[in-house]
Amino acid sequence: MGIIKDSKNASGIRIDSLQRGRKIVFFVNGRYTTAYMGETIHAALIAAGYHQFRKSKTCQPRGVFCGMGVCYECLVTVNNGSIQRACMTVVEEGMEVEIDGD
Ligand code: FES
Repeated sequence: MGIIKDSKNASGIRIDSLQRGRKIVFFVNGRYTTAYMGETIHAALIAAGYHQFRKSKTCQPRGVFCGMGVCYECLVTVNNGSIQRACMTVVEEGMEVEIDGD
């Protein structure tokens, strides 16, 4: 198990007054990370402090741009092989997400 990256960031960036699903664990590049049921991978990564999800062919940083499934800038690798749009994919318990960024 890796470090717990989001223990402080997650509570600071999320709106406290919203009702959320159950707290779940998923992994970002092998690091233990938490999210809430119903959140997208995008929301969970941002709340955990990740902003760069991949690099372009010219090594430029890429992350969320449109946030609605159109631009494909937020691609991440899920469960060792499936390339998904982070803004359109709901995070799941035990999911392994790989990013090429911060
Ligand atoms: S941010 Fe544009 S498709 Fe995900």
